Amino acid sequence: MNLKSRSIAPPALQEIQAPVAEPLARVLDEMWRIVAVDSEFFRGVNQHLMLMKGKMVRPTLMLLASEVEGAAQPRVASYAAVIELIHLATLVHDDAVDHSVLRRGMPTVNSLFTHEVAVIAGDFLYSRAVQELVRLGDLEVLRVFANASNELTVGEMRQLGALDALSFSEDDYEFLIKCKTAALFKASCEVGALCGAAAHRESLATFGERLGMAFQVADDLLDYTAEAATMGKPTGLDLREHKVTLPLIAALRSMSPARRAVVDALFASPEPTPEQVADVVGIVQDEGGLDYARERGERYLAEAEAAVAALPESRARQSLFDAMWYVMDRRS
Ligand code: IPE
Ligand code: IPE
Ligand code: MG
Ligand code: MG
Repeated sequence: MNLKSRSIAPPALQEIQAPVAEPLARVLDEMWRIVAVDSEFFRGVNQHLMLMKGKMVRPTLMLLASEVEGAAQPRVASYAAVIELIHLATLVHDDAVDHSVLRRGMPTVNSLFTHEVAVIAGDFLYSRAVQELVRLGDLEVLRVFANASNELTVGEMRQLGALDALSFSEDDYEFLIKCKTAALFKASCEVGALCGAAAHRESLATFGERLGMAFQVADDLLDYTAEAATMGKPTGLDLREHKVTLPLIAALRSMSPARRAVVDALFASPEPTPEQVADVVGIVQDEGGLDYARERGERYLAEAEAAVAALPESRARQSLFDAMWYVMDRRS
């Protein structure tokens, strides 16, 4: 099977999720159980968070990975809930850090409540996830989650610590997305393997990591090209927040001094205007930055494809193949 040779429409997420639809429904119940709390105030925050359901990409990958070679252990649904809660905690913190007001089509915790509540709510989700892992008592799984969580923070800190945003290189970017996004994708597939397909742990971990890299490249592309209404979160936000991602890194290489001055002006404004953002988006597109990023994403996928090809044939493996295609062609 060749990713590039396909000509029909990309698979919908629902199709990819079909082989694991039943355990995926249980994951939501597990999430509610894990975050259940006595405090009235926390209940309000939890309720808001649980209503803003995401695409459930990471639990889906974990469940699929756990089924590549026969039936999975039932505890995988709890681990899938844990990974989605950790992901949710990072989103709550990320939106506070990015000053974002919209997530999954709903107000962010920092906008609906306060910045402080977002910090504590993220910690709450994360610590509940850890408590659940301790309850389940598998040290190897705990190790995978602990390492991934630590990588996430290293990535986020690296992004904050970039002093001269415009000198951010492609290598810096690659390291960043490996930490902040691919680490959790890798953990999803690795923990899935530990719950039913241990012989394929390495292939699945590599698959998850490469898929995660492509997923973040696609997210960064969508920030340039998509509409907020389809994404359920603001677009153009990366430039507004002075975040340099692959399309801009690539475009900067060939830019004329006049165009570079437009980019510099945006990065010098504390609050870039929508016109400034639109101008830089136009320049990046014109310089081939979007095409470059798309090609880079596809190269990550080729590596993911090589890893998944090593797995035994199964319905779950087919969905993992389809997930690659979905990741780069997704619209939200
Ligand atoms: C958003 O992840 C954060 C990134 C790593 C780009 P998702 O696109 O999986 O977000 P939800 O969970 O569907 O909202
Ligand atoms: C990914 O980065 C966030 C995390 C991995 C926590 P982004 O800042 O691009 O994510 P979005 O676009 O807000 O979802
Ligand atoms: Mg963000
Ligand atoms: Mg983004």
